[in-house]
Amino acid sequence: MTIDVLSDYERLFLLDDEALDRRYSIYRHLQDRQPILWSERLQRWIVTRYSETRAALRDPRLSNEQLPSVLKQLPEEIRASLNDDNPLLRQANKIMMSRDDPDHARLRMLVNHAFTPRMIEHQRPLIERLSHDLLGQMEQQEQPDFIRNFAIPLPIMVIAALIGIPYEALGQIKQWSDAGADFLGKSTDTLEVFFRMASAAIEFNAFIRPHLEERRRQPKDDLLSALINAESQGDKLSEDELIANVYLLLAAGNETTTNLMGNGLWALLTHPEQIALLRQQPGLINAAVEEILRFESPSQITGRHTKEAIEIVGQHIGPDQSVMLVLGMANRDPSQFANPDHFDIQRQENKHIAFGLGGHYCLGAPLARLETQITLPIVIERYPNLRLASQKAHWRKNPTFLGFETLSITLQ
Ligand code: HEM
Repeated sequence: MTIDVLSDYERLFLLDDEALDRRYSIYRHLQDRQPILWSERLQRWIVTRYSETRAALRDPRLSNEQLPSVLKQLPEEIRASLNDDNPLLRQANKIMMSRDDPDHARLRMLVNHAFTPRMIEHQRPLIERLSHDLLGQMEQQEQPDFIRNFAIPLPIMVIAALIGIPYEALGQIKQWSDAGADFLGKSTDTLEVFFRMASAAIEFNAFIRPHLEERRRQPKDDLLSALINAESQGDKLSEDELIANVYLLLAAGNETTTNLMGNGLWALLTHPEQIALLRQQPGLINAAVEEILRFESPSQITGRHTKEAIEIVGQHIGPDQSVMLVLGMANRDPSQFANPDHFDIQRQENKHIAFGLGGHYCLGAPLARLETQITLPIVIERYPNLRLASQKAHWRKNPTFLGFETLSITLQ
């Protein structure tokens, strides 16, 4: 491994603009050279190829219980000042995403009892109505921005309605989910990000508790009531587990679904033959959404922690080490995908891992898919002359999530 290729990746991870513009050529260089490598600067292993990433996602020796390693990065005086009563500390350990089995399986089963496919499918008319409302509002803007005017508000409004949280809280929900996305994604600014997350957790607790009390007194037809009542063999979610996983559901799908819609519109508009094909054959929308997920994966990275010493393709990795699984790189691996840098909405074999794999496979995947399968056709049908107002991509600065800060478009 030449040092240049690795440091290119480190620059990309640290959000250097020039490296961000060469994302996929940097990925290919790494893949061509080594399936796994160590970054001293990032203090973690980087898995580069599809087959090893897939295997690692299912490997029980790789843990999701990463809070201890996040806390280890904090200065000693900060760590000493945290006590178990801090809601972030108390509840981060109750989020299903940050637990291993058997705790993870138990939490996921209870949440699954409430967050059902039927409940998701019921959002179809709401998604259609909100799409038209938001596009109507976007048309009033001097310079329409697909991200700010559409792709940010839509997923937040849908999840708020589904959970049963009033629309007045939309601004706060955005702040809480941004704090969560940065906490998961920006390990480089740990201290600032940690404090923002800690205060978001305090605010969210104060906000959600009265709603929980109200639903206990008077259940409604919403996810909050269903989660309170979710039961499996006499087991229920505790108050902290309930709050932690409502926060997770509220936050996990916002940045990611915004990115899926934005990346999708960008991919279609920069590939005129593909958008023309989709206009001619609207039935290709589901395959198109899968190709967007593969081609510009909204969640580029997930992480694990070694519970014990393991080997990945002959490389010894000690216990208590961070391992980065770059889903967006695996989804461009030429040994798995023919012509991986070609955006092809008719791609035949598309076993992408944009939603992860195994026990932690994205719980919200059906909702993210449904929203994007409904909204993109509405947008491209409503504006036959839709164009990008600028060819320059303004990516958001977060190494974990891939999406646009703004996406200016011309409607006529
Ligand atoms: C395009 C949109 C989305 C993408 C790309 C995405 C991606 C992912 C990925 C990669 C994971 C696995 C992480 C891991 O294994 O470490 C995951 C887990 C999860 N996602 Fe999503 N997600 C999306 C939308 C959503 C939505 C809309 C929701 C909820 C409403 C959601 C809720 C969750 C939850 C609860 C988990 C944790 C599952 C577990 O630990 O068992 N996601 N997501």
